[in-house]
Amino acid sequence: MRVGAAIVGINGAIATTLTAGLSAVRRGLAQPLGMVSELPEFTGLGLPGLDELVFGGWDIRLEPHADWARRHGLVPSELLSTISSDLESISVFEGPLIGVVPAALGLSGVNLARNVHSRRQALERLAADITAFRTENELDTVVVLNVSSTEPPLAHAPFWSDAGALARAIDDNDARITSSVLYAYAALREGCPYVNITPSEASDIPALSEVALGNGLPHAGKDLKTGQTLCKTVVAPMLRARNLRVEGWYSMNILGNDDGAVLTDPANRASKIATKLGVLEDLLGYDGFDHQVHIHFYAPRGDAKEAWDTIDFCGWLNTKMTLKINWLGADSALAAPLAVDLVRFAALAYHRGESGEMTHLAPFFKSPLGAAPPAFADQMRDLFAYAERVRVDMVDR
Ligand SMILES: NC(=O)c1ccc[n+]([C@@H]2O[C@H](COP(=O)([O-])OP(=O)(O)OC[C@H]3O[C@@H](n4cnc5c(N)ncnc54)[C@H](O)[C@@H]3O)[C@@H](O)[C@H]2O)c1
Repeated sequence: MRVGAAIVGINGAIATTLTAGLSAVRRGLAQPLGMVSELPEFTGLGLPGLDELVFGGWDIRLEPHADWARRHGLVPSELLSTISSDLESISVFEGPLIGVVPAALGLSGVNLARNVHSRRQALERLAADITAFRTENELDTVVVLNVSSTEPPLAHAPFWSDAGALARAIDDNDARITSSVLYAYAALREGCPYVNITPSEASDIPALSEVALGNGLPHAGKDLKTGQTLCKTVVAPMLRARNLRVEGWYSMNILGNDDGAVLTDPANRASKIATKLGVLEDLLGYDGFDHQVHIHFYAPRGDAKEAWDTIDFCGWLNTKMTLKINWLGADSALAAPLAVDLVRFAALAYHRGESGEMTHLAPFFKSPLGAAPPAFADQMRDLFAYAERVRVDMVDR
C-alpha cells in the first residue's frame, strides 16, 4: 500500500519536524518515540508501514521544504545534513492565497504564494494538485492533513449547514469561506480521507460532514491534544472519581514559535481558546467553576512551550486544596509523531470502507468530532477496542 500525505502547511514547524523525524526513523537513526501507532496493541493491524508513506503538500510560504526545516531550527543540523536528500525530494505545491490574511499570520517579508482570483479557482487548483500528487507518486490513497496556521472562527452563514449551498457560496466567492474549508472540501470531493489537527473549522461543519458521508470517506479533527489539555483529560476524571469539587482551573501558556505569533492575533486566538476551554464540564459532570485559559507569545522560548495549571478544589469539610502542573513540552516534537499516526489510522479506515467521523481517534484531539467520551483513558480504551475489531475482521475475512 502506498499512502500519500498531502499536508496543508508543509513548510511549518510541525510538518518539517514530521518529515525530518520520519526520515531519521526510516534510516534507523532514531526510534519512533511519541508514535501511538507503534504501540504493540496496533501491531499487525494493516496500518501502512512507515516506508509506505509519501509526503508532499501545500504552503503559502514558498522556498524549498529543506530550507524551512533548517530555518525552524528544531532538527539537529548534523541530522539535517544526513537526510537532506529526503527532504529535497518532497514536493511543495503553491497554496492558493485566498481566505487567509497573511499579515494576521505574521507572514510579511517572506516569499509568499500568489493571489488567486476566486474560491472556485482555488478549489479546482487544489483538486488538480491532489491528482498530480497521486499520479506522480503512484499512490493508492491520499490523506489530506491540515497542519496550517490557526484561523479565526467562521463568521455566521447559513451555507455552512448544507453542501449544495456551500458549493453555490464558493461559486459566489463568498468572503466568509476560509482556506481550511476549501482544502477540506477539495480533499473530500477528490476521494481523500481528511484530518484536521488545527483548531480551525473545516470538515466539522455540517456541509462538509455531508460531503464526507456522501462520498463514503472518513474524517477526523480537531486541534491536536499534546500537552495542557491532555493533562486535563487525565487529571479531571481523577478528581471527579474521588468526589473532589473543582472551584477553579487556571491555565497559562507561553510559547514563542510561529504558531505562538499567529495566536497573538485575537481572532486567531479565539479558535484555540474555544477548543482549550471546551473540555472540563463534560469531564467533571458539572459547571459553575472558574475555568480560565491564557496564551502568551514569548519569543525566547521558541518551540519549547511551557504550561502551568493551578487547580483549586475542595474536599471533606470544604477543605481547600491546590494541585499544580508545570508542563515543559517541545511543541513540534510532541505533535509530529501524532500527525504520522493520524495519517496511518485514516488510511486504514479508508481501506476498511469506513466513512464519517473517526470517533475512535478522539484521544488525539482537544475537540474530537462526533460522540466520544471526554476522558483520555476512556478514549484510549475505545481506540484499543477499535483495534480489536479490526483484528477480528481480519481473521473473519
Ligand atoms: N504543536 C502542537 O502541539 C499543536 C497542538 C495542536 C494544534 N497545533 C496546530 O498546528 C498548526 C501548525 O502549527 P505549527 O507550529 O506547525 O505552525 P507554523 O506556523 O510553524 O506552520 C504553519 C504553516 O502553515 C502555513 N500556512 C498558513 N496558511 C496556509 C494556507 N492557507 N495554505 C497553506 N499553508 C498555509 C504557514 O505558511 C506555515 O508554514 C497550528 O494551527 C497549531 O495551532 C499544534
